[in-house]
Amino acid sequence: MLFYTCLQLVILCTLKPSISLNLSTVSFNEAFSPLYGNQDVKISDNGKSVQIAINRWSTSGSGFVSRYTFNCGLFTASIKLPNNSYTAGVVATFYLRNDEVKRDEIDLEFLGHIEGEEWSLQTNVYGNGSYNKGREERYSLPFDPSQNFHNYSILWDTNRIIFFVDQYPIRETVVSVGGDFPSKPMYVYATIWDGSDWATHKGAYKINLQRGPFVASYYFIFNVCRATQPECDIALPGGISALERQEMILFRALYMTYSYCRDKARYPALLPECRDEGYGMQPVQAPIARTTRRFI
Ligand SMILES: *[C@@H]1O[C@H](CO)[C@@H](O)[C@H](O)[C@H]1NC(C)=O
Ligand SMILES: *[C@@H]1O[C@H](CO)[C@@H](O)[C@H](O)[C@H]1NC(C)=O
Ligand SMILES: *[C@@H]1O[C@H](CO)[C@@H](O)[C@H](O)[C@H]1NC(C)=O
Ligand SMILES: *[C@@H]1O[C@H](CO)[C@@H](O)[C@H](O)[C@H]1NC(C)=O
Repeated sequence: MLFYTCLQLVILCTLKPSISLNLSTVSFNEAFSPLYGNQDVKISDNGKSVQIAINRWSTSGSGFVSRYTFNCGLFTASIKLPNNSYTAGVVATFYLRNDEVKRDEIDLEFLGHIEGEEWSLQTNVYGNGSYNKGREERYSLPFDPSQNFHNYSILWDTNRIIFFVDQYPIRETVVSVGGDFPSKPMYVYATIWDGSDWATHKGAYKINLQRGPFVASYYFIFNVCRATQPECDIALPGGISALERQEMILFRALYMTYSYCRDKARYPALLPECRDEGYGMQPVQAPIARTTRRFI
């Protein structure tokens, strides 16, 4: 426990890069470029937001990628998902990744739904080429993410990753995942694509492009360290307060629908961090009764 308490105190990005990149002051084109499906990457007139789509004419979808790599930071995307009544098979993403042989990746992925259901959110972390060890978690959300913009954040520091939905932390991953912790500079990506083979009810429902186009809107609020900058003195949130930790526990109790830490079919011997007590990645073991409180 003392070890972890010490870790929590080490809150600054010790890699010492940067500049904070703030899209209130930097335009989309300065920070990003289209990745694929370029005709469906539509930048707003003021250059602050972007829409990406998958449709009948562009069946592999579209996406964009940052022009720079980053060492650490608070990466926030304000996202509004497609509001079509049927979005099965559609996957909209916001993630960090590099192209190293031993790749690192931190994912937020929204999985489309059938009629009458809503988008679900999946988070995942790969580090140092650990592709054979998916660490997926999935959640339903306490709001319909296709009706309004909500903020989704990845706080990536040298010793922890925290995912946030609006201001609430929903998952924390610490260096206790050992060599699988992402440590090399990453690009920021956003994409929309056809994940029919797995995204909705394990692939039972496929994309129906006749029900499209499927349009996701993004804008970004960054406080990040550029990998090439010699100094980085950005102030990152100093950790999760006791109250926030309660909120995180509550969120996970109410809304988590899948965790790799509970998937004994996939991991008969659970990954080490799933066996740790009381910290980090493992899901809540004793869900709080739904009736006691709503999260939001
Ligand atoms: C971004 O820049 C705007 C305008 O200078 C400022 O008000 C805002 O606090 C900055 N946001 C971050 C996250 O640094
Ligand atoms: C659905 O989303 C689109 C794109 O954001 C928007 O123009 C439209 O008004 C929305 N429709 C409804 C019914 O909310
Ligand atoms: C998202 O973040 C921005 C900037 O901090 C804030 O103005 C906005 O209210 C947030 N949206 C939500 C839904 O919390
Ligand atoms: C990445 O994995 C290799 C083994 O494949 C290991 O030697 C190396 O120390 C790891 N790197 C980090 C940063 O943990």
